[in-house]
Order: sequence, then structure tokens, then C-alpha cells
Amino acid sequence: MSKRFYLTTAIDYTNGAPHLGHAYEKVIADVIARAQRSFGTNVFFLTGLDEHGTKVQQAAQTAGKSPQAFCDELAIEWQAFAQTLGLSNDDFVRTTQPRHREVVQAILTKLHQAGEIYQASYEGWYSARQETFLTEKDQLPDGSWDPIYGDVVKLVEENWYFRLGKHQAWLIDFLETHPSFVQPDYRRNEVLGFLRKEPLADLCISRPAHRLNWGIPLPFAPEWVTYVWFDALVNYYTVPASLGDATALAPLQGFLDRPTTALSLWPADLHVIGKDIVKFHAVYWPIMLRALGAPLPKQLLVHGWWQKDGSKIAKSTGNIVDPVAVIREWGLDAFRYYVVRELAIGPDGNWTDAGFIARYNAELANGLGNLLNRSVSMLNRYRQGVVPEISRELAPDAETAVRAAEAALRTNQLQDALLAIWTLVNRANKYVEETRPFDLNKDPAQAARLDAVLYNLVETCRVLGVLLWPFIPGTAEKIYAQLKVCGEVDQWGATAWGGLLPGHTIGSAVPLFPKKEPAKAP
Ligand code: ME8
Ligand code: MG
Repeated sequence: MSKRFYLTTAIDYTNGAPHLGHAYEKVIADVIARAQRSFGTNVFFLTGLDEHGTKVQQAAQTAGKSPQAFCDELAIEWQAFAQTLGLSNDDFVRTTQPRHREVVQAILTKLHQAGEIYQASYEGWYSARQETFLTEKDQLPDGSWDPIYGDVVKLVEENWYFRLGKHQAWLIDFLETHPSFVQPDYRRNEVLGFLRKEPLADLCISRPAHRLNWGIPLPFAPEWVTYVWFDALVNYYTVPASLGDATALAPLQGFLDRPTTALSLWPADLHVIGKDIVKFHAVYWPIMLRALGAPLPKQLLVHGWWQKDGSKIAKSTGNIVDPVAVIREWGLDAFRYYVVRELAIGPDGNWTDAGFIARYNAELANGLGNLLNRSVSMLNRYRQGVVPEISRELAPDAETAVRAAEAALRTNQLQDALLAIWTLVNRANKYVEETRPFDLNKDPAQAARLDAVLYNLVETCRVLGVLLWPFIPGTAEKIYAQLKVCGEVDQWGATAWGGLLPGHTIGSAVPLFPKKEPAKAP
């Protein structure tokens, strides 16, 4: 079987409920997955949960539960959340699954035998909150630590180290010669800047089990568990390896012996991640794979962070957006549309309820919704819902939008793709004002002209359904249902003008996005 387009999201910590930032990342990955499928690509889309480490252990403790029971409960909520978001993921990985532990341990065993992992004693500053050792460089000028680190304590302990440093020159060269590996460019430049400035230290990949036992034991020294990031990054590899992908299994021969299958996933085509975890993905992960002898992923797509009302999203201050509540009130597609339309992939964004409602009313209710509603209503009223002869008056506008949207989608510029699609929505709404079908209907001599106008309107709506499917699949299906068209809304080829055939009878109009005010006025 030919290789599938394999894309992943970051796996979220199971230490609380999902928030806007998590939802955003999963939605943009889903739009990319659906767009690729619409183009005819065979896609495999992975998301999941990061369940080990101090953060999760502490959250479980606070909840008075064992870490496993705590994670099992949250995993149900998070998997339901993936459904609420309409994700089309092909698998859902949890780092507590046996398949994952096996792959992590096989990788550790191989790297240990190859001399890539060694034992040493460490003395230094440790932040439990960030699950990381700090150096003097991380200290503020007055000797204190940034509050993001919480309590910072001096620790001396024996640990295990992965030889990261010796790959520094190679990694710099790799990033220089593969400019598309980290996108957008400014994120790649940040990584290169950091790599060129200072020597890369080896990575501590263990935690003594007496301090942290919620993790995967090192197979060669079970008094330690694996550092959560070394464990978490491997999730991308776990799924191909455990499903029998030959490319993923080859470097593990003798360490994880599994029959290969026809499934071909590795290397990943795209890792979608947030800006705060670039170093792990652009430095640790490529080096881990290189040491293992596995091909590297093709690209990291780095998105920015959402704020709400100009401040950091934080449960502690109550400054949150609960995506589930927004979806319950406004519908899934309103949420998916807003986050993709509001924020390009890269910069930071700011959620305001007023901004959300403004886009809902202007772009969804008055823009797209009104276009479909009047197009379908007028065809019903003036022609008993029967599609007239094909007319191509708006075909060039549709073709321009299709080309621009496709080009944008192929480079993951999702916001630009929506802008291109809305030029067609706006053009068609303007066309109604220009042609005035309600006046044409009053003049029997204008019957042929009215036929042409009505055709252009309903056919534009059909094309919009296909264009919108990757973004707002439920709406796309509703458009097709109102037009009584079967199938193909998920196939980009169906954007070709002329899909609605003369003589076909459409259904009746149902508002897509009822105009509404917020439940509680601010
Ligand atoms: O970092 N806006 O998990 P996580 C946008 N388990 N994105 C945000 C965000 C915000 N306000 N807050 C978080 C982890 N994210 C690790 C990942 S991957 C092998 C392991 C994004 O639950 C964040 O940038 O803290 C990350 O990509 C994802 O949500 C999960 O964050
Ligand atoms: Mg985080």
C-alpha cells in the first residue's frame, strides 16, 4: 500500500479539562486532514493524550485518585471532546497504553545498547511545575526564578542521559538545508538562533522512581522512570510501529519484533504543535530519531497561542473559554469557523465574545446562511424547486475561489483559504442585489434571465458546500441536503461548475445559522 499522509497533533496533558488552545490545535489539524482527503490523499490523522509525569501525578493526588484511575476518567472526557470537535482522527493514542510502553522501552533499550544513553550524577536546580532542570542562565538577575517555574529546589541525583550534544552541528546543518522543516520561518529562526548561540547539553531522560513513579520504567534500570518528554514524543512513532509499519519497525529489529503489515505511515508528514513546545520537536525529536536510525518527519507546523480579552488563558484566574459551552450554544461549525478564520497559523490570537458574535452574525448568518437561504427559497418560489438550464455567469468567480482556496490549503494557510471562499460568498450575495431576481420574476419577458440567475445562485451554493467541507463539514452536508444532492461533498473535484443538473428538484430552505444574540448580554 502506498504511504499515507500522516499528520499528528500534540498530545495533551491529562491534568485538567480541555480549553480553547487544545480545541484550536485539534481543529486546524482536522481541517488539514479533511482537506487532504478531499484532494484524494490517503490520510492518517493521529491525536491523543500525554498521561505521565509530575503534572499528571500531582493533579491525580489533588483529586485523591490513583494516577491511572484519574487518567482513565479524563481520557473518557477527552475522547468525547474529540468527538464534540468533529475530529476525523484515525487513532487515539494514550501514553499509558501497553503498545506505547513497548515502543518506548524498545527505543530506550536500543539506544542504551548503542551507547547513546549513559549514567551520571547531576546536581542542579529543578522545577517540579515545569518538569525540568534549570541552569543559572534561567535565573533572573536578582537570583530568583520566573514564577512560571513554581518552587525551584537544588537536587543531587543519579540519572540517565541521552547524548544530544554531539548532534548539534548536524542539527544546525539539517535545519539550514531543510527550510520547510519548521514552519512558519520565524519559528525555525528561533531554533537556529538558540542552537548557534550555546552548546547543546545532553538530555536527562530519567527521573528516580522514588521522586516520580508515574512513568515508564527504564528497561535497563527500573529504579528510574522515563522523562515525560522522551516518553511523549515517541507517541508519534508508537502508532506506526504498533500497527506494523515496516519503516517504523526496521530500526527496532531485535528490540520489538512485530509482523509488518501493508500500512505505511512513517515518516510523519506533519506534526501540528504550539509555539511553546518547538524546542522539544525541533531539537530533541529529530536527534532521537537520528540516533535510532529512523527517517525524520517532514514538517512541524507551529501555531500561536490564544488569549482571552487580552490576557493569558488560565484556570486559576478564571480567564477561560470553554469550547464545549461555546459549541453547545452556537454550534460546532460556528466554533470551527471562528477559530480558523480569526487566526492565521503562527501569530497569537485573542478571543473576545463580541468578536465571535460579530463574525457569526456577519459572515455566517448574513453571509453564507443568507445566500443559501434566499437561493433555495427563490428557486422553490419561482421555479417549484426545479433546477433550470446550466448557466456559467458566476463560474469564473467560483473557479477563481476554488484555485485560491486549494493553493492556500495545500500550504496549510487555512485562514487564507477561508478568505478566498468568502470572496465567492460575497460575490454571490452581491449578484443577488445586482440581478434582482424578485423583480425579474414580475416580468414574464425576463423568464430566461431569471432561470440563469437562479442557476448561478444554487450552483454557487453547491460549490461552496464542497469548498467548506474541510472546515465546517456539518454545514457542507446541510447545504448538500437542502439541494438534495447525494455524495461527493467531501471530494474537491466536485467543485467543478455544472454539478446541479437541469430538471433536478432541490429541497426546501432551512436556516444554517439562525441570527442570534448572546444568551446573556455583556
Ligand atoms: O504541551 N493557545 O501538553 P499541553 C493555543 N503534553 N494553543 C495552546 C494553548 C493556548 N492558549 N495552550 C496550550 C503539552 N496550547 C505536551 C505535548 S507532544 C508530544 C506533548 C497547545 O496540554 C500547546 O501549545 O500543555 C500544545 O501544542 C497543546 O496545546 C497541548 O498542550
Ligand atoms: Mg502546556
